[in-house]
Amino acid sequence: MTFKTIIEPFRVHSVEPLVMTTPEQRREAIGRAGNNLFSLRAEDVLIDFLTDSGTGAMSRDQWAAIQRGDESYAGSPSWFRFLESVQDLFPFEHVIPTHQGRAAEKILFTAIGGEGKIVPNNTHFDTTRANVEYTGARAVDLVIAEGRDPASRHPFKGNMDLDALESLLIEHGREAVPVVFMTITNNSGGGQPVSLENLRGVREVCDRYGIPFFLDACRFAENAWFIREREAGQGDRDVRDIVREVASLADGMTMSAKKDPLGNIGGWLAMNDDGLADECRTLLILTEGFPTYGGLAGRDLEALAQGLRESVQHDYLRYRIRSTAYLGDALTAAGVPVVQPIGGHAVYLDAGALLPHIDPLDYPGQALAIALYEAGGIRGCEIGSVMFGLQPDGSERPAAMELVRLAIPRRTYTQSHIDYVIEVAISVAERADQLRGYRITSEPRPLRHFTATFEQQTG
Ligand code: F0G
Repeated sequence: MTFKTIIEPFRVHSVEPLVMTTPEQRREAIGRAGNNLFSLRAEDVLIDFLTDSGTGAMSRDQWAAIQRGDESYAGSPSWFRFLESVQDLFPFEHVIPTHQGRAAEKILFTAIGGEGKIVPNNTHFDTTRANVEYTGARAVDLVIAEGRDPASRHPFKGNMDLDALESLLIEHGREAVPVVFMTITNNSGGGQPVSLENLRGVREVCDRYGIPFFLDACRFAENAWFIREREAGQGDRDVRDIVREVASLADGMTMSAKKDPLGNIGGWLAMNDDGLADECRTLLILTEGFPTYGGLAGRDLEALAQGLRESVQHDYLRYRIRSTAYLGDALTAAGVPVVQPIGGHAVYLDAGALLPHIDPLDYPGQALAIALYEAGGIRGCEIGSVMFGLQPDGSERPAAMELVRLAIPRRTYTQSHIDYVIEVAISVAERADQLRGYRITSEPRPLRHFTATFEQQTG
């Protein structure tokens, strides 16, 4: 007999207290924070769904591995254990450790970006876009049309539009395009997966034009699980084999190890090209550290070596994907609009659909995110015109979608926490017509969403 409840495949080993607050306390806290959820003190948050990045719970075996951390400056055994674990899944020639994903992006785009260059991606994550644009290059998003439609139930909404990719290459020529990127899963587009078939298609286009193909692979294990569940002929495969096949299609990768590799910090840049690797290692030494530790301590390398092994276990991934869907399915059943189908690491509330009375440039996502915090102490993240609206020339344009991401830290919250979130979100949705928009009162750039301040609109 099999049971339908998918339980957490772990039990609790040490606990962290949550601080209970009242709605009044939260209204005061968010006011002090300039209505920016990034500026809250984490202790004023009850359920923290700001990000799944670096916020997961490490396992007993990861904590044990930390004790083995060897802090030798060069050639530490911890480095070799890390390298072996990375190359077991991603057999690239060169692995360059960094303190997190954006450091890998910064190094890579410093080496290959620059004025006049164009970098296509299914959808650039905000730091990836910022690192491309910082070099003077242009970041272009070419996700399939279904990927921009929150209601479409296409099983691989992260796929690249191959015709659009080819048109871009014909129009600008291969010299202008130093790399083609694919983000798996497609975070900014709703945590949606990319199919093996599409990855093979991108490889084929890149081969024809002689352009390197890189993965932004921080949610590679969730992506591989979706391939196993949704793609024809993949259902019996070990996730590790799927991951290796995905890696074999690419020439290199950037990684934020704060996501699927179950680390609290870490990342890497990997590639097969010897010349490019030399250049990147030189840049690494300038800003991150020696090539056998990059920006990490030996103990961090140990935690990641073990985390990577756990990240591809089927029981874990089944629970991970199912528990995210549990939240999304309950909200869908209650009529709260969320991006379909439910992604891997997060549920994306469709603030555009829920708050049609708020203009995109009055930031419906921000309004919804603040309402969730005030009502229940839940911290989500606007992924809409606050994050993407500001253009490099200083003008403002509505984003493709107005979303609020509820990103679920790995192995951290239980089903009763999620039941509470469902209850709060439904109660906010029931009075959606009363929510008002916001205007920005101060903003830096780029990446204004981290520190901008907001004021609620009157009337
Ligand atoms: N690429 C993707 C797809 C990401 O989601 C992130 C981070 C990065 C690169 C950068 O990695 O944070 O280690 O420097 N995403 C986090 C998030 C911050 O909340 O989605 P990092």
